[in-house]
Amino acid sequence: MVYLFGEESSAATCYNLHMNTESEMLFQELINLRKEINFHNYRYHVLDAPVISDREYDSLVMRLREIENLHPEWITPDSPTQRVGGTVMEKFIKVRHPAPILSLANAFDPKDIQAWFDRILKLDNRVAQADFVVEPKIDGLTVVLRYEKGIFVQGATRGDGEIGEDITANLRTIRSLPLRIPVNANVFVPDVLVVRGEAFMMIKDFEALNRSLENAGEKTYLNPRNTTAGSLRQLDSRITANRPISLYVYQVVQSEGWFPETQMDSLEFLREMGFPVAEDIQYCPTVESVLNAVEGWRKKIDQLPYEADGIVIKINSLWLANDLGFVGKDPRGALAFKFPAREVSTILREIGVNVGRTGVLTPYAILDPVEIGGVIVKQATLHNFDYIQEKDIRVGDRVLVKRAGEVIPYIIGPILESRTGSEQEFIPPAVCPACQQPTEHLEGEVAWYCVNSACPAQLIRNLEHFVSRGAMDIVGLGTRIVEQLVESGLVKDVADIYSLKKEQLLALEGFADKKAENIIAAINASRSQLFSRLLTALGIRGVGEVMASDLAKVYHDLDSIGRATIEDLQTIEGIGPNIANAIVDWFNQPSNRQVVAKLKAVGVWQETNFIEPHSVEKQPLAGMIFVITGTLPQYSREEMKQIIEKNGGKVTDNVTRKTSYLVLGENPGSKLEKANALGVPVIDEAKLLSMIS
Ligand code: IVH
Repeated sequence: MVYLFGEESSAATCYNLHMNTESEMLFQELINLRKEINFHNYRYHVLDAPVISDREYDSLVMRLREIENLHPEWITPDSPTQRVGGTVMEKFIKVRHPAPILSLANAFDPKDIQAWFDRILKLDNRVAQADFVVEPKIDGLTVVLRYEKGIFVQGATRGDGEIGEDITANLRTIRSLPLRIPVNANVFVPDVLVVRGEAFMMIKDFEALNRSLENAGEKTYLNPRNTTAGSLRQLDSRITANRPISLYVYQVVQSEGWFPETQMDSLEFLREMGFPVAEDIQYCPTVESVLNAVEGWRKKIDQLPYEADGIVIKINSLWLANDLGFVGKDPRGALAFKFPAREVSTILREIGVNVGRTGVLTPYAILDPVEIGGVIVKQATLHNFDYIQEKDIRVGDRVLVKRAGEVIPYIIGPILESRTGSEQEFIPPAVCPACQQPTEHLEGEVAWYCVNSACPAQLIRNLEHFVSRGAMDIVGLGTRIVEQLVESGLVKDVADIYSLKKEQLLALEGFADKKAENIIAAINASRSQLFSRLLTALGIRGVGEVMASDLAKVYHDLDSIGRATIEDLQTIEGIGPNIANAIVDWFNQPSNRQVVAKLKAVGVWQETNFIEPHSVEKQPLAGMIFVITGTLPQYSREEMKQIIEKNGGKVTDNVTRKTSYLVLGENPGSKLEKANALGVPVIDEAKLLSMIS
C-alpha cells in the first residue's frame, strides 16, 4: 500500500507515476475532495455544527469513491472512504507503547483530595502555587493513537500499560477520529505525535443501537462501556464501523519537536489539531477551587451525554507533574475522584413482559422501590430471556441494580449469598401477555415473539412509532391517548387515525374541545410529511430514518416499493438481503397491503410528499445550536425544541463554546452564568421567533 505523507501536491510526484494532464487534474480533485470531506466530517462529528446537508456530504463521498474506483492505486489508509472498515484479522498484534500508559489513584471523599494535596506539597513546595485542571472521567476504553507526519498510522488499546493490542483498522472507523491532522488549521504538526484518549458511546447512541437491535429481534447490550470495548475488539472492522463510537482525547503521550508545558495547553493543542476534546473541562487556579468544582460535579456528572464515573484532577504544569513521579503505576500529579456508584441491591418481586412493535417480547424487573442517586427506581430492564437464564436471575432474588447517568436502570445480577431457596426460576411466557395468543421462539434467535398481527399491544407500539418525532411527528398523540384510541376500538390500524372525528375524541375520557381540535389539526398537518417519514413511520424491520431516506431517493411512492423485488432493493447501497427480505415480506402481508391502500384513500400520499430535497442550510436555523433555560412566555421547552428543530437548528442541554444562542426564559438556572462566562449570546423567545419568521 502506498502511503501519502506531507503535502499531497508534492506527493503526486512521489508516486512516481506517469501522469498526463487529465489524471493530474483528477488526482488534484481527489486531494481536494479528501480535504473537503475531512473538514465536513470534523464540522459534523467534532464540532457538532455541520455547514452542509447530509445529501451534499454524501455526494462528495460518492465522487471520491468514483475516482478511487478508477484509480485504486490512489487509495490510502487516511482516505475518508476507508472509514467503513473491511480489514478482517485473525488476531490482534501486540504493540509497545512509546511511554507507559499510566493509571490513576482513586479518591472517594473530598478529604482525600486535601490529603493528596498535602502529601505532594510535602514532596515539592512548588505545589503551593500549583493550578489544576478538572476533567470528566469518561467511562470508556483507553486508546493510544499514533500519527506520523500528520497521518493516523496506529491505534492501540492500553493493555497492561506497556504493551497493548493494535486495533488501528477498528479505530479508523470512528467518525470523529481525525485520519489526518491538522484538520482545519495551518499549524505546526510534530513528525511523530502519540495521543491518549477514551473511546466511548454517547448514551443516546447506545440507546438507539439497542432499540434497533431490539426491533431486529437481536440481543441488546448491557451498557455503553462494554459495548464500546466489545466493538473495538472485533476482528472484522466492518462490524465496528456500524457501532456509534465517540472519542475524546486528553493527553499528549509523545510529540517530536514541541511538547506542551501545561495540561490546558495540551488540550488546546489537541483541539487545534482537530481532535475531539471534552467540553466540560474546568480550570482551577487553587486547590480550594478544585474542592468547589468537585461539589459542582456531583450534580453535573449524571447530566453528561455520556457515562462518567467521576472526575480527574490534574496538576496543570506538566513539568511539576513529571517531577512529582509515581507511586507504582499511578502518577502523583493526578487523582481520580469517584462519586458513589449508582448500584444498590433490592428484591426482584416479579418479572413483567412488554410487547414491542414487531411483537418481540421483552422482560423487565418489577422491584421493591429503591433509591439510586436521588431517584426512586421501581423497574429495571432485563434485556431478553437469554439474559435472565445466563445470569440465573430468579423471582424473589436480591439483585444488584445499576443506574448510571440517563441509562435505563438494569439488573447486574442476583446476589447468590442472599438466596433462601424460595426463589422461583422464570419461564418465558407461552402466551402473549396482551392478547393471550401463543408465543413463538425461533431456534437460534434470542427473541420470543407474539405473532398475532391483531395484538393490541403491538398496535399501540406501532402507533406510538408512527406518530413519533422522527416519523409522522404528530404532536400531542402521547402514549395514553394512543392506548385510549386502541382500547376504545376507534383505531384498528395506523391509517385509522386519519379518519378520526372530533366528536369521537370528545367521547374519550379527558378530552375537551381544544385538545380534540389540536390533535385533529396535528393529524391533518402530518399528511404533508415527506415520503421518507411515512416510510420510517410504517416500522418495517430494518428501515429506520437513514434507510427510509435512501429508499425515498429511488422510490417515490408506496406502490413502487411494494412492487420492488429483493434483487431490485439490494441495488440500493446499504440494503442487504435481510432488509430487502423484510421490506418484501412487509408488503406481502395482506394486513399491511390494506394499511397502504387505506393511507392512500385517506390522502396521506400527496404530491408534496415526494419532493425529498430538504437542504439543511436553506432552513433559517441551519447549523445553529440552541440551549433553552427557564420558563418561556409562550411555548413549553419541548415545543420550542420542536420549533427550532423544524427550522434546521439543534437543541442541546449544556451550554458550551459551540452553543450559538442561549434562549432565556423566566427563572433561569446556572446556564445563564455559563453562557455569560463563555460569551454565548443570550436571546429571548420573541427574538428567536423573529429569526424564523
Ligand atoms: S488521565 C496519567 N483523564 O480513567 C494520566 N484518564 O485510571 C492518566 N480516563 O483508564 C489518565 N477520562 O483511561 C485521564 N480525562 C481523563 C480520563 C481518564 C477517563 C480513564 C483512563 C484510565 C482511567 C484512570
